[in-house]
Amino acid sequence: MFVVVGVTGGIAAYKSVQLVRLLVKDGHDVHVVPTDDALRFVGLPTWEAISRNPVTTSVHDDVASVRHVSLGQRADLVVIAPATANTMAKMAAGIAEDLLGTTLLATRAPVLIAPAMHTEMWQHPATQANVETLISRGVHMIGPVSGELTGGDSGQGRMAEPELIHESVTRELLRGTGEAIGQHWLVSAGGTREPLDPVRFIGNRSSGKQGVEVALAAARHGANVTLLAANISQQILAPAQRDPRIRIVETPSAEDLEHAVREYGPDAGVIVMAAAVADYRTPQKSATKITKESADAPVLRLELVETPDILAGLVERRSAGQTLVGFAAETPSEGETLVQRAVAKRRRKGADLLAANEVGWSRGFEQDDNHLIVIDVDDEVVADVAGTKRETADALVAVILGHISAP
Ligand SMILES: Cc1cc2nc3c(=O)[nH]c(=O)nc-3n(C[C@H](O)[C@H](O)[C@H](O)COP(=O)(O)O)c2cc1C
Repeated sequence: MFVVVGVTGGIAAYKSVQLVRLLVKDGHDVHVVPTDDALRFVGLPTWEAISRNPVTTSVHDDVASVRHVSLGQRADLVVIAPATANTMAKMAAGIAEDLLGTTLLATRAPVLIAPAMHTEMWQHPATQANVETLISRGVHMIGPVSGELTGGDSGQGRMAEPELIHESVTRELLRGTGEAIGQHWLVSAGGTREPLDPVRFIGNRSSGKQGVEVALAAARHGANVTLLAANISQQILAPAQRDPRIRIVETPSAEDLEHAVREYGPDAGVIVMAAAVADYRTPQKSATKITKESADAPVLRLELVETPDILAGLVERRSAGQTLVGFAAETPSEGETLVQRAVAKRRRKGADLLAANEVGWSRGFEQDDNHLIVIDVDDEVVADVAGTKRETADALVAVILGHISAP
């Protein structure tokens, strides 16, 4: 998972090197965001080497990737260790003058802080007021504990040990999500391409964003996920590649996807077919490129044959206790609603749940946002969510988990 570790300017910064090591060892994609003062305690090369990711304190580096918000948006969790009195005050006030500040404002992920400071600083009414503000906003806090402090004195203010913070981080990452631990989910994403000849194909506009978000959401709940990826760009696939719970299998054509579903389907407790699969393909692909010369006619007729209905096949071969979820990208015609089409499609396919979204020239495909409705076996709309594809994926996965645990 994508973990941001904020480090601020206290002696305890050296202990966070161990925290970062533990998180990297767990397989997380760890991004350290130090403050300028933190780098006076532990230098930038240490953080880069330990986290295996580039490190900067400034919003002005790597501007093309809009890092000042992207780290926060991509984070599954932000942990700040140590958190100084100064940084806690800035957090309470929403100050965003450096990369850590902007990341904290941009994130909707859980935030965990491990304060460290002298007892007097910790007990000061200003610090305590900031603690209250942060807790009231849902920030999680671990420590500070009592013990020896930097100046040789002792009292409350010592940062919790990195092993303890690591434990809290791990618990937080799986919070409310342990539900899918031990489950195998099979998720298809992207759009298939049916080859015509060695250089051309019939494809569709599905980018794979929604399906990848479903795989990531399932992994956040602890599931092991096999993601069948049909022609998804490197950029969209990257978060799934970094997730240790997700195994990616490339399935470029409808035929590849069908084979992979037969191979990985029987063992999956949940199957979500989010890929846009071609309905038709060419019966034979040309061994050589079709050219005007080779066709030698003003009109070129393509013969297409139906591809197998993968979801219907899954329903037919369904193993005991398996949950099957279909996806429908629909363009309802006049006088017809998306719900009506989705209900009809779910019945026709026999899936347990059907997620449907409306698509068009400027809707659904390649966008970051989506509007998804989910229909169950009673033809009820059990979810109707508009938001980012991550939000719609979270809603869908919550419905699926509810379906699994329903008596
Ligand atoms: C040796 C040394 C140790 C410090 N330790 C702490 C500390 O543990 N907690 C704290 O709140 N401030 C501590 N400070 C003060 C902070 O470094 C200072 O408030 C700084 O502005 C914090 O900046 P930052 O929050 O942007 O990292 C320490 C300063 C020095 C010189």
